Amino acid sequence: MTDSSAQPRVVIFDTTLRDGEQSPGATMTHEEKLEIAGLLDEMGVDVIEAGFPIASEGDFNAVTEIAKRAKNSTICGLSRANFKDIDRCWEAVKHAASPRIHTFIGTSPLHRAIPNLTMDEMAERIHETVTHARNLCDNVQWSAMDATRTEHDYLCRVVEIAIKAGATTINIPDTVGYTAPRESADLIRMLLERVPGADEVIFSTHCHNDLGMATANSLAAVEAGARQIECTINGLGERAGNAALEEVVMALKVRNDIMPYATGIDTTKIMHISRRVSTVSGFPVQFNKAIVGKNAFLHESGIHQDGVLKNVETFEIMRPESIGLTAKNIAMGKHSGRAALRAKMKELGVDLGDNQLNDLFVRFKALADRKKEVYDDDLLALVKDADTHEAHDTIQVKRLRVVCGTDGPQEAELTLVIDGAEHSIDATGDGPVDAAFNAVKMLYPHKARLQLYQVHAVTEGTDAQATVSVRIEEEGRIATGQSADTDTVVASVKAYVNAINRLIERRKKSNPGDDVKTVDYRDAG
Ligand code: KIV
Ligand code: ZN
Repeated sequence: MTDSSAQPRVVIFDTTLRDGEQSPGATMTHEEKLEIAGLLDEMGVDVIEAGFPIASEGDFNAVTEIAKRAKNSTICGLSRANFKDIDRCWEAVKHAASPRIHTFIGTSPLHRAIPNLTMDEMAERIHETVTHARNLCDNVQWSAMDATRTEHDYLCRVVEIAIKAGATTINIPDTVGYTAPRESADLIRMLLERVPGADEVIFSTHCHNDLGMATANSLAAVEAGARQIECTINGLGERAGNAALEEVVMALKVRNDIMPYATGIDTTKIMHISRRVSTVSGFPVQFNKAIVGKNAFLHESGIHQDGVLKNVETFEIMRPESIGLTAKNIAMGKHSGRAALRAKMKELGVDLGDNQLNDLFVRFKALADRKKEVYDDDLLALVKDADTHEAHDTIQVKRLRVVCGTDGPQEAELTLVIDGAEHSIDATGDGPVDAAFNAVKMLYPHKARLQLYQVHAVTEGTDAQATVSVRIEEEGRIATGQSADTDTVVASVKAYVNAINRLIERRKKSNPGDDVKTVDYRDAG
């Protein structure tokens, strides 16, 4: 066993609430952001990037509240390279015991061209803005957006300016997920060798996953001398996402023999936070995702099962318990009581208040009546369903009947409660789901387009629950919805209605500029 206390410490900077929340459709509510920030703080994340305060009132309020509540983590906010952004960021993060201002500008030729700044003008802008941030806060991070496509000489020049102006962390993002491990390491090494003062700051890596190399690129940067990794839970983030926190942390833990770097993360909290982020962001975790995917610790083939039964290390490089997955998977049935349900939920990392437990118990009993055995995943799907359907939703699904079979068209009779009043209609369609969705559109006309419709079976068997995810888009606003039910068509309609409810919430909240996705990243001025 190696002594990790003697090892260089890698700062874990989590940007689930900023870069992660920028994923189209991943918008979280205020309460959800506070909950996720609390879990990140508890699991030992060193820096939480809590949002982009200038982007919206909502972001500002969330960063402010997270800053006030943080117990251990440094709280950071993002700002573009202008005084207004930086001042707004400081107003939000200053409440933290340990605040950080993060300011950035795109330094590559493609990004310099957009605000139309010459190399000299941009250098001057960096000097002014980092100096301004440092006058407000002792802890300033500067990022060279698109660093991996920036000319080396220019990158060295601007990094030196940022350090001289007072930046304490220099972040080198691979904004478009373009680099590869060797190049990622060479870039950090080059900067450490060439930039005067480089040894006085922390170099950071921020890798996107467009070519599926984000985690490998981040670890290569660490081996070359970077001491901060920026990452997100489940790899959430723009396009193909970011390096996943669970991957970088577990890679450093499991392969500590060849990557002897320590983090302060309590890895047993990983599974719980992964599930919560998946629920609140509406982004399901792919089954075969490293560490947190449903199949990550399952052994299907006979040879693998036989090997694992004889010696678990034959096909497992880490124990499920190390990420907080319990080895026990006791199936619950219709005879299980409230106490057993509470104990089971606790074991799954879900702490419920009495009212929540009572509500879950009723729905668990209803499910147990329809399904022989209720597995852990069924219970988690029920919790997720409760989280996504709220009593104050504008639209609620009251009743659905569908007629389907070989002879179309299929028919749906649907009753919705809209703003407290019941409305019913019959509709037809190309299949029962299409008919039911047509009925929703007739009862609540809207222009949102369906972008994604996905069905997964939660467990095995024909009586399994289906979880359905729906993504819709209206005038650039994206909303996602989820639901679970043993009836796939019911789950589909509930997921669709859930997405519409979220869209309605977003319509109510948004006013011009009050939307993180409308912030123009290139607006450096
Ligand atoms: O990917 C990126 O370059 C970013 C910056 C804002 C740090 O997210
Ligand atoms: Zn990014």
